[in-house]
Amino acid sequence: MVKIGVVGLNGIGGRHAQTLAEMEGAELVAVADLKEDLLKEVSEKLDVKPWTDFREMVSGEDLDAVVIATPHFLHAPMGLHCLEAGLHTFVEKPVAMTVSQADRMIDAAESRGLKLAVGHNYRTFPGNRALKRLIDAGELGDIYRVLWQWLEARAEAYYDRDIWRCTWEHAGGGVLMNQTSHDIDLLCWMIGEPVEVSAMISNWGHRAEIEDTAIANVRFASGAVCNLQLSICDRRLNYRQISGDKGTVIYQDEKNANSQVPDTFRLGRYDMPMRQFIAGGDGRTAGQNEISWEDVAVDSERPSLMESFISAISDGGEPITTGRSARWALEVINGIVLSGIRKEVVSIPVDRDRYDELMEELTSGKTQVYRPS
Ligand SMILES: NC(=O)c1ccc[n+]([C@@H]2O[C@H](COP(=O)([O-])OP(=O)(O)OC[C@H]3O[C@@H](n4cnc5c(N)ncnc54)[C@H](O)[C@@H]3O)[C@@H](O)[C@H]2O)c1
Repeated sequence: MVKIGVVGLNGIGGRHAQTLAEMEGAELVAVADLKEDLLKEVSEKLDVKPWTDFREMVSGEDLDAVVIATPHFLHAPMGLHCLEAGLHTFVEKPVAMTVSQADRMIDAAESRGLKLAVGHNYRTFPGNRALKRLIDAGELGDIYRVLWQWLEARAEAYYDRDIWRCTWEHAGGGVLMNQTSHDIDLLCWMIGEPVEVSAMISNWGHRAEIEDTAIANVRFASGAVCNLQLSICDRRLNYRQISGDKGTVIYQDEKNANSQVPDTFRLGRYDMPMRQFIAGGDGRTAGQNEISWEDVAVDSERPSLMESFISAISDGGEPITTGRSARWALEVINGIVLSGIRKEVVSIPVDRDRYDELMEELTSGKTQVYRPS
């Protein structure tokens, strides 16, 4: 039985606590939050011990593991504290605000043989799993191009409610860190290791100091290139097109930006491999490679990120999203911010010192994100 505590209960942490209280193989023994009313309500409902200071929970309880579901700026300090105390740690996404923080967390976990899991639950969504399966099975052939858009409108009221989401110091970024770290994680999970980023970022329509729009190009080790269009100033649309040598996929959702099963998911198979067509394989000098379209079926099966964390601790193996695999999304996000603000092409792995320096400038207000007047 994995004895576990949850830190941060207002939003998703409350849901994690409820899930763990009901999960076979886990025993929820304690919860922590600064908000005393919330702490009382959750601890009484789940019949577990309440703590206002998570450090006291870590030292005062006999725990094997902890879940951290607090604002972004607390992920690294709380995660390091728990790992250094010998606890397996599940941290909500993003794993940290900077790649240098993520490095320290991964080292702390791996040097102690502890599991570090990250809350990138979009990897469990049926549509995303079907898309990854299709890519891994080679249905598209060598991927050369990706267009990935994640668009939604977020009203000022969203930021007024949770003020921590507004600042570089507390959120580490806006649309990239908060809404689309999931999609960037999916992109790296599906396409592989990113190696280079160039980007423009801006704040087009919000009072908060962080970016609300990012347009970025990412090159992958495989040679594939991706254009990302990410914004919270738009009508909701989740659109992906991924093309390879053998075919192309269109994946689209307008009903839910955090799409589990998309409205449209179609695979187009080329009549002949595109490289062969380009080389003049059938002697044609005009026209297009023929394509036949089919709908891609998405089953409803959905694994649980939290169950995978608990079973990795009890039975060995790895959780669905390890700290090491989640760091790729942070490399891309930090790379986009560095490129967008310094106006340069950024190599991945991101230069840790240069990104830390930029974060200091952004948090102090010395440097600001572009705002069209
Ligand atoms: N995986 C997902 O789909 C998903 C969904 C929502 C949120 N998240 C992530 O979860 C994290 C929390 O987001 P949220 O929306 O639940 O935020 P929230 O602001 O609603 O809740 C955060 C909680 O942390 C508590 N807290 C703050 N400082 C604390 C401290 N020092 N000690 C103990 N508790 C403290 C707050 O009192 C609050 O109850 C963020 O990283 C967010 O990005 C992930």
